[in-house]
Amino acid sequence: MVRHFLCDDDLEKEDVERLLKLAGDLKARPIQPLLPNKTLAMIFAKPSTRTRVSFEVGISQLGGQGLYLGMNDIQLKRGETIADTAKTLSRYVDGIMARLFAHSDIVELAKYSSVPVINGLTDTWHPCQALADYLTIKEKKGKLEGLKLAFVGDGKNNVANSLIRLGAKLGVQVSIGAPKEYWPSKEITKGTKTKVTANPKEAVKGADVVYTDVWVSMGDEAEMAKRKAILKPFQVNGTLMRAAKKDAIFMHCLPAHRGEEVTSEVIDGKQSVVFDQAENRLHAQKALMVMLMR
Ligand code: CP
Ligand code: NVA
Repeated sequence: MVRHFLCDDDLEKEDVERLLKLAGDLKARPIQPLLPNKTLAMIFAKPSTRTRVSFEVGISQLGGQGLYLGMNDIQLKRGETIADTAKTLSRYVDGIMARLFAHSDIVELAKYSSVPVINGLTDTWHPCQALADYLTIKEKKGKLEGLKLAFVGDGKNNVANSLIRLGAKLGVQVSIGAPKEYWPSKEITKGTKTKVTANPKEAVKGADVVYTDVWVSMGDEAEMAKRKAILKPFQVNGTLMRAAKKDAIFMHCLPAHRGEEVTSEVIDGKQSVVFDQAENRLHAQKALMVMLMR
């Protein structure tokens, strides 16, 4: 059976642990021809810096090649169905990575694809981001089990959803500090020990990791003014960081908007690990491709 990675629950805990270990090996020895001559198609309906570059460089370091397919360049935009696109691409390539809007679209793509499909972000999930994030936390803190991660800001976006689900699997206590309008949905927190509060200070109290993301995700632009107003008290600044553990690290999936969800003082400060985190996208996704495409 073809294995896809559409959301965090698609990997068992043991798979994630194996993946994090392999990612560490690949970080130490980046050039290993584990996917010789394999091709990864990369469909992008939204812009990207990190996801595009890390997948393209990653597959090439593994001996294969990436094929960038912008939404304006393929027939999908002109009405070719997702099913026909999936069936066609499956005849040429060994894996498909897609960044789309509706999550149901990537589910449809996977349904008709006979090669593994990887979610490079949808409106609901950003599972590759969460893999790299927990790899980073493990490197910085030496463990995952028992740690507390506080996510402050838009608590119902794709990044928050993925951190909640994967964190629960790995024994990380995730706390969401968000205005009620942006609390995670019940389906996301179901079966997890996620704590949700409208008080950002309470969310970060005792946290080992303070995490935030943009207030206006790709696709949410129509709500920009409303979001910026409601989320303003949830900015991660020096005062909020001081309410976390002394040795807490600051994380952000990037791109960041300095002066909105985070101040320059914090993102450019000593506790910030955002570029180690960005680098780990490469190592984690290489491990993922090896696990799914070999
Ligand atoms: N974090 C992340 O996915 O970045 P890009 O949008 O640049 O790919
Ligand atoms: N939540 C953000 C993440 C970008 C990597 C978005 O969807 O735009």
